[in-house]
Amino acid sequence: MSKVIAMAGKGGVGKTTVSALVTRYFAKHQNDPLLAIDADPNSNLGETLGLEIEKTVGDIRENFMKDPQGVPSGMDKIIYLEMLMNQVLIEQKEFDLLVMGRQEGQGCYCMVNNILNRFAEELEKNYKYLLVDNEAGMEHLSRRTRGKVDILLMVTDYALRGLRAVGRINEMLGDLKLDIKHKGLIVNRAPKELSQAFLDEVERIGVPIVCTIPDDGNLLEFDMAQRSLLDLPDDSIAVKAVDQMMGKVQEIIG
Ligand SMILES: Nc1ncnc2c1ncn2[C@@H]1O[C@H](COP(=O)(O)OP(=O)(O)O)[C@@H](O)[C@H]1O
Ligand SMILES: [Mg+2]
Repeated sequence: MSKVIAMAGKGGVGKTTVSALVTRYFAKHQNDPLLAIDADPNSNLGETLGLEIEKTVGDIRENFMKDPQGVPSGMDKIIYLEMLMNQVLIEQKEFDLLVMGRQEGQGCYCMVNNILNRFAEELEKNYKYLLVDNEAGMEHLSRRTRGKVDILLMVTDYALRGLRAVGRINEMLGDLKLDIKHKGLIVNRAPKELSQAFLDEVERIGVPIVCTIPDDGNLLEFDMAQRSLLDLPDDSIAVKAVDQMMGKVQEIIG
């Protein structure tokens, strides 16, 4: 069964950046197949990886619901939906990317969702690692039928308020029926030394720090130049921090 690495944290703290750097780690240092899943409807993981996203799983769902008779004549609708799903998967040499896109609107989408979920589960079997870049509410994770997460990486900025948001997410996890094996805290844009007040709050929340990432000027530069984070130099400080963390993460999750 694939190992699931998932991100959590409020908007703007760096989940997508870390996801891109984790993808970079696998692309550069591991031969294991990775499926990156962009599960944030305001998604931009693809963009940070320099990929153009034309269609999402949400688009397939919407189109199908708008025109359920649009299935080519003589074709089974399950096969049709699966064919469309195959078109959404972006295949790269070092990893693949699936963009979930919008969550459903009104109406009953159960049948389509079941087919799409089943397809996603079949697809996932082909990968040793799954990486899920979530939105704050973690809708996608809670929808997964098996709900296993090998490590949930909770990202915070260096602020007590950000950290408390992580605390609230941590408390909410109990309601989500997820099977989370390990949790780790990532402190993003962190100074060299964390304040005692910050560390006390970390202690109270009870999620161990697995990584501190300093502010990395290259990230802003790459963002402005619309360059893929896969092309960041090995000695970029955020890259070094995430590479080091991934060594630890792989030891933890096996
Ligand atoms: N360590 C860092 N140093 C500099 N800029 C960063 C760092 N981490 C994230 N950023 C920037 O912060 C912004 C928000 O990050 P993002 O990963 O999109 O957050 P999220 O996915 O949690 O909403 C992006 O513009 C990103 O380039
Ligand atoms: Mg994001």
